[in-house]
Amino acid sequence: MTEPLPAAQLYTEQFAVDPYPSFARLRADAPVCPVSSPRFDSYLLTRFDDARTALTDPRLSKDLYGPGQHYLQIFGPNSEALNRNMLNSDPPEHTRLRRLVSQAFAPRRIEALRPRVRQIVDDLIDGFVAQGRAELMHDFAIPLPMVVICELLGVPRADQDRVLDWTQVIRTSGSSRRPPAQERAAVGEAQVRLHHYLAELVAAKRVAPDDDMISALIDACDQEGSLSEAELVTTTFLLLFAGHQTTADFLGNATVALLTHPDQLDLLRDTPELLPSAIEELLRFDGPLPVASPRVATEDVEYGGVRIPAGSIVGVVLNAANHDPTHFVDPDRLDLRRVRGPHLGFGHGVHYCLGVSLARMEAQIGLAALLRRLPGLRLAVPPAELRWLPAASPFRGLLELPVRF
Ligand code: HEM
Repeated sequence: MTEPLPAAQLYTEQFAVDPYPSFARLRADAPVCPVSSPRFDSYLLTRFDDARTALTDPRLSKDLYGPGQHYLQIFGPNSEALNRNMLNSDPPEHTRLRRLVSQAFAPRRIEALRPRVRQIVDDLIDGFVAQGRAELMHDFAIPLPMVVICELLGVPRADQDRVLDWTQVIRTSGSSRRPPAQERAAVGEAQVRLHHYLAELVAAKRVAPDDDMISALIDACDQEGSLSEAELVTTTFLLLFAGHQTTADFLGNATVALLTHPDQLDLLRDTPELLPSAIEELLRFDGPLPVASPRVATEDVEYGGVRIPAGSIVGVVLNAANHDPTHFVDPDRLDLRRVRGPHLGFGHGVHYCLGVSLARMEAQIGLAALLRRLPGLRLAVPPAELRWLPAASPFRGLLELPVRF
């Protein structure tokens, strides 16, 4: 039996900068690795085959609200009102919650956004292009998907900065010098405020519906009666958070990957038709969600010869699986011409990313515009000085991305 690895040994400062050497060691030496931490213990799966199997294993539940109340350990207090959503549920609950949203998220509605996404991208670049420098996370990567998802949902322009502030407190948790207790309190407060705000917004849309997704969801519910008021709020939170957080981090990671691989950057500038497959390779290379959201073993299960006892939390390490040499030739090389393989960056199985079309569209329009409008785009600091989210963050992304052009 593999000895539990103390989380502090895994989540070092170096891991925050570059987790891939550690993932390679885990994949080779302990592909099913128990990790112990003060908050919760878990088993990490790092091989591609185990990861893909686990993402569809019905014995690994996403319902974190059962007897073990794992949500309390994972998300902390004040979080149930926001996190009891489709991502943290199993069929048939999951099917019911996802079906209504899928309708509101119809590809037709997403495709209709294309001109508006182009406009938002151009407006953001107009805001800094004359300066010859920018901090691309706050000037571009974060606001782009945030404005898109807020407009899609129907969050008024005047409220978007507040909403952004709360979601950023949650995203950057652990990155300040504050003691952990203060940090947890700040996240808890942001969650409470965001919950109240979204509850009021849903109530307001019920009284005065508009042409937006929250109103469409309310309408669909009223006709079918299949989402409670609380579920409407948790669904809105999921769409808001999942809809910008991952895409923002992905835009940052993808930009850094291109700027630190000048041959690939040139290739993309010279061959823009590579962009759709380049997006998939960039996501495989350095995705924004290193570990899929937590699963809980409902019975004893065995992976790679290791017994995972019932009640354990299981983390499927997508970014390790996406660098598994048994599935990707020379996996640590960024190769925009790589034949598109089945990477796990958008997940797999019933929880496969619901926003995949929107994410791809935003990434394509955003990256294409950066390359077209900012010739000479380069990092303003050496790559080793880039500041990443803390090693133990559930997200892989940059705190800042200073560039010149
Ligand atoms: C689920 C990745 C953008 C909405 C997921 C999952 C992954 C993922 C890996 C599955 C998690 C799991 O199984 O534990 C990404 C990446 C994105 C992105 C890498 C950007 C590059 C978006 C966008 C939206 C979105 C723009 C829009 C609202 C969702 C939702 C789920 C989900 C609602 C839950 C689906 C379910 O539980 O059935 N995403 N996502 N995502 N994503 Fe995305």
